[in-house]
Amino acid sequence: MILITGANGQIGVDLAEALSAQHGTDHLLATDLRPPLADPPPVPFEVLDVTDERAVERLFSRCDFTQIIHLAGILSATGQQYPDLCWSVNVTGLKHMLDAARQHEIPLFWPSSIASFGPTTPRVETPQHTITEPKTMYGVTKVTGELLSQFYAAQYDVDVRSVRFPGVVSHAAPPGGGTTDWAVAMFFDAVSKGSYQCFVGPDTRMPMMYMPDAVKSVLDLLRADSRRLTVRTSYNVASISFTPAELAGAIQKHVPGFTCTYAPDYRQDIADSWPESIDDNPARTDWDWQPDFDLDGMVLDMLTGVARRLGHTTLLARLGHADSI
Ligand code: SER
Repeated sequence: MILITGANGQIGVDLAEALSAQHGTDHLLATDLRPPLADPPPVPFEVLDVTDERAVERLFSRCDFTQIIHLAGILSATGQQYPDLCWSVNVTGLKHMLDAARQHEIPLFWPSSIASFGPTTPRVETPQHTITEPKTMYGVTKVTGELLSQFYAAQYDVDVRSVRFPGVVSHAAPPGGGTTDWAVAMFFDAVSKGSYQCFVGPDTRMPMMYMPDAVKSVLDLLRADSRRLTVRTSYNVASISFTPAELAGAIQKHVPGFTCTYAPDYRQDIADSWPESIDDNPARTDWDWQPDFDLDGMVLDMLTGVARRLGHTTLLARLGHADSI
């Protein structure tokens, strides 16, 4: 059975669906601190606080897990506001999962982030192995997690696998408290209001990835031959880099009249400390990583998904999906 933590989060919702299509719902246990999003939940669900060591141990003594997908985490902007909570969930929570993986001899996947990099990192085509001196507490927890993972892999032979996600764009579940959230919010506001106020400036180029590619990266890495894996901190994975102005332009092609204004806040500083683009050669070499979506492909698919979700029939018709609401 596969354990998913943070299953109610942005990645959890889509990944749980993909895993249940592959393995069947009976082979998954979705957990989250919050109650399930749907009643009944699409896969078996339990409430779990990953910072509660006893609760984690109790769960493992009851269930026979074969794989951990550990997604519970606090994102960058929330982490700046609540640094202690960020450390506790992102580091203590991960440590509990690493200990469980070690004790029960099962593989563990968890996502790290481009937030592992900082202002001293080369910002363009950021290499796999480079300076990691993040400014944010979120980044500090991700670098710590990467080093812990590498230690558990080398010292205890834990099969731990990870990717450094860029901003992930999706419509099934909202991201929460991230610096890259503008790339999702812009779609929802474009469809529902025709305008969006962005919290970073128009030319802030950031690495992003469409959710189907993010899910594919996890499934591909899980399937990879362990002997080929040369990185046990976390793999760089690249897809598309774009600025808010470029995304607004791509949305305007389908939503005429859409306007984007800019009011940068504290998240601008965080964005400016992160890479603009990522070099992911080790992932391509070690487990044949390759994304499918470019900017225009993502925009078309996202607008369709958001228009369906918001019941926007005019936009669906314009996008060629008149009868599929
Ligand atoms: N999407 C994340 C954030 O903005 C980056 O890992 O915090």
